[in-house]
Amino acid sequence: MQIPVDTTANSSTVIGFTPYKTALFPLSVSCDANTINVTWDNGDTSLFHYIWLRDNCQCAKCVSTLTREQLFEICDVPLSIKATKAWINAQRRIMIEWDFDQHISEYFPGWLQAHCYSDSARLKRQFKPQTWNSSDIETRLPQYQYNDVIWNDNTLLSWLKDLRSFGISLIENVDTTPDTVAKVAERISFIRQTNFGRLFDVKAKPNANSAAYTTLRLPLHTDLPTRELQPGLQFLHCLVNDATGGESILVDGFKIAEHIRQHQPQAYLALTQYPLSFYNKDADSDYRFDGPVIATNSRGAITEIRMANFLRGPLAIAPEQVMDLYAGYQLFIELTRDSRFQFLHRLSAGELIVFDNRRVLHSRNAFDLKQGARHLQGCYVDTDELTSRIRVLERAL
Ligand code: OGA
Ligand code: ZN
Ligand code: ZN
Repeated sequence: MQIPVDTTANSSTVIGFTPYKTALFPLSVSCDANTINVTWDNGDTSLFHYIWLRDNCQCAKCVSTLTREQLFEICDVPLSIKATKAWINAQRRIMIEWDFDQHISEYFPGWLQAHCYSDSARLKRQFKPQTWNSSDIETRLPQYQYNDVIWNDNTLLSWLKDLRSFGISLIENVDTTPDTVAKVAERISFIRQTNFGRLFDVKAKPNANSAAYTTLRLPLHTDLPTRELQPGLQFLHCLVNDATGGESILVDGFKIAEHIRQHQPQAYLALTQYPLSFYNKDADSDYRFDGPVIATNSRGAITEIRMANFLRGPLAIAPEQVMDLYAGYQLFIELTRDSRFQFLHRLSAGELIVFDNRRVLHSRNAFDLKQGARHLQGCYVDTDELTSRIRVLERAL
């Protein structure tokens, strides 16, 4: 079939605020029993099921133009729905007329490519964290300037993408007035409030309700493993650090998990399958959650680390799992103590470290207040806010 070339065709179409850019246009479409096959003008092919296409019709009857939410419900057509006709129109979009309801759907090339669900397309879209050990992060630590992050949206986007990839970043020359950490966090979105407050002050306090509020060494940990959803990003802004000691240590928990997966499969199994118990009790709260140290998704990818020795409750797993989990847990702690994995940095006043609390473990050495004070201010922002802000910035920039 000869495709008429429309010179006015736009290579970028906006659907639901998102521009779907394309350099590829369909050359031909052919209909099979359950699918249509699209051949693109670079020779690639994509396959889409009729039922999937009908489900994803973007017309104003199927998707509300007001809310951008789906109105159509897939149970209102038979699973066996088919095209009576499929063609490429003058704007080089794919058109389908349906056998069931005579509905006509129009699909934009960029949208189809962005949502193609072939194995290779899905693999390409999968998030791949850039994991690091000590020497990697020494040379590649993402570093940003406070003023740039606050005032420049391009810098903001680049900082957030680095944070998503590396799970860590350092912001320098941050104003040391209290509450400035909120200004940076709110460049992303809402702060996640917890029982420790909207912002928390990390300094030695009388009647401390957390190990963090003493002068003690903290072992490598994630914050709030006692919650079903651990906070995503953690911000720690150094206002004063005149004490001796108190150096920060961070490790990429994903790197350690990968190491265990490679070298100690039995420990990996225990750490991914058997939960630890985490407790945090205070006068007015009593949080508990059971979860594995290493969480994985249905594809087996490592998605989350959950670990704070000082917040553990007694193990409550099947007797035959106990020895395996203790062995795995010992190994995990030993690896967090291994300097090959550690990024060591002494925070100075005006520095703000931001990291993925569900991936990067953090700790500090004990400190001594004889020489001066140590005061950090922190807060959390959930991961959904990070990825949402990245998408919104990417639409515009
Ligand atoms: C915390 C914490 C680290 C530090 O407050 O959760 O880990 O450097 N603080 O004091
Ligand atoms: Zn429709
Ligand atoms: Zn902490």
